Amino acid sequence: MIKVGPSVLAADYGNLAKDMRRAEKAGADFLHVDVMDGNFVPNITIGPDVVRSIDRASKLPIHAHLMILNPQNYVEAFAKVGSDIISFHIEALDYSVEKSKKVIKLIERCGKRPAIVINPPTPLDSVKPLLNMVDWVLIMTVNPGFGGQSFMPEVLPKIRALRKIYKKDIEIDGGINNINAKLVVEAGANILAAGTFIFKAKNISQAIRSLRNA
Ligand code: DX5
Ligand code: ZN
Repeated sequence: MIKVGPSVLAADYGNLAKDMRRAEKAGADFLHVDVMDGNFVPNITIGPDVVRSIDRASKLPIHAHLMILNPQNYVEAFAKVGSDIISFHIEALDYSVEKSKKVIKLIERCGKRPAIVINPPTPLDSVKPLLNMVDWVLIMTVNPGFGGQSFMPEVLPKIRALRKIYKKDIEIDGGINNINAKLVVEAGANILAAGTFIFKAKNISQAIRSLRNA
């Protein structure tokens, strides 16, 4: 069963509550919230206060995708405002397995589900020692920072390689549409985040359905 999480980055920030309810009605499984700090990535987006508003606007679980340096300093803040899944990048922790383990444990202590994220150039090997500690891995199919970028097909072998050794949730994020969704699902992904394809669609229920049926 494929799960679909609209990426809030592509929603209308002036009508965020309305767009979140629209996504919920349209059959979204969760909301993917992109948190950017202007340091780890060149863009600045959403902080904890906005996540609180998103949480109040819909009943859907929230995945806070932290594209920030020092994620350990912000886990509690994002946990308090209603995040259900909190993910962080191993690149933001100097690829350190030890630092990553600490962040995973911190997320768990906050009562939330931890997930680890890797960028397109980051090899799978860097997170292998962490796979027994998380039940959700996010593989980026664009370099993070902006919505609306093109899907990078060269990441497909990494998805395939992870699925061979990992039975739990694999989420894909970046440039996903109804065509490449089939490719990532075939490769082993079971969770799809998509911003532009969903929120810029004329019919968002149909867009979500077309991803789920990929
Ligand atoms: C990229 C973000 C993605 C992005 C996806 O840095 O992590 O979640 O919003 O947007 P689309 O689907 O437009 O590539
Ligand atoms: Zn994201």
